[in-house]
Amino acid sequence: MTRPLLEIKALQVERGGILAVDGIDLLVRPGVVLAIVGSNGAGKSTLLRTIMGFERPSSGALRMDGMDLRGKNPRARYRLGVGYCPEGRRLFPGMTVEETLAVANAGGARERRTRVSAMLDRFPALAKKRGDRAWSLSGGQQQMLAIARALMNGPRLVLLDEPTLGLAPMTVDDMLTTVRTIAGTGVGVLLAEQNVGPALRVADEVLVLVRGVQVHYGSADDLDVEQVARLILAGE
Ligand SMILES: Nc1ncnc2c1ncn2[C@@H]1O[C@H](COP(=O)(O)OP(=O)(O)O)[C@@H](O)[C@H]1O
Ligand SMILES: [Mg+2]
Repeated sequence: MTRPLLEIKALQVERGGILAVDGIDLLVRPGVVLAIVGSNGAGKSTLLRTIMGFERPSSGALRMDGMDLRGKNPRARYRLGVGYCPEGRRLFPGMTVEETLAVANAGGARERRTRVSAMLDRFPALAKKRGDRAWSLSGGQQQMLAIARALMNGPRLVLLDEPTLGLAPMTVDDMLTTVRTIAGTGVGVLLAEQNVGPALRVADEVLVLVRGVQVHYGSADDLDVEQVARLILAGE
């Protein structure tokens, strides 16, 4: 077994007076896609935001490469190799594709140029639109850009918050292929999804979240969409 990148134990996060995350235990290993599935309000975004350092845990352990992440701000976590693609993409609509990628890189001008050009090689659909502004891209292209941006500092762990939200089925398949390709380079992927079908197709492991509580955690091969639906209904 490869050493875990991310290790979470008994994590609790309070939000708006409730425990939005209530006792999560998980491991993410290099090259593995772990899907966090659950309905709207289940706590998926809160979990990802806590890993990134935008929310503070009330208790529990949060470690990257065995190192305690609590007390490190989001910038420090980026530097440790965590990439983040927030829910709703959060692009700057007036920035071009190239600018969007460039500003996400924390290195000097030279590294930035190399990384932008490598990323455009990796995403030909974005290369064709390199000078176009984010607002003018299709939903699928915008999502692809948001994911590419999350890869701009060469992360070893990537957090993707609902990348298939609002996309047409064909575009969803492209997205899943991209997620597999990312994991294929040895990056650990934490994928939050309400879209259970696509999540099960792409994931190696699945954690089912209901009102902040994990009701199931195991191999994606052992679960189908109906079983996940039953787990969610039983918990709600
Ligand atoms: N900005 C916020 N302030 C207070 N409570 C919030 C905020 N965002 C989400 N919550 C609450 O936290 C819980 C989990 O929400 P969230 O993590 O966004 O779930 P999901 O991403 O699974 O839809 C919900 O009960 C929600 O109402
Ligand atoms: Mg969410």
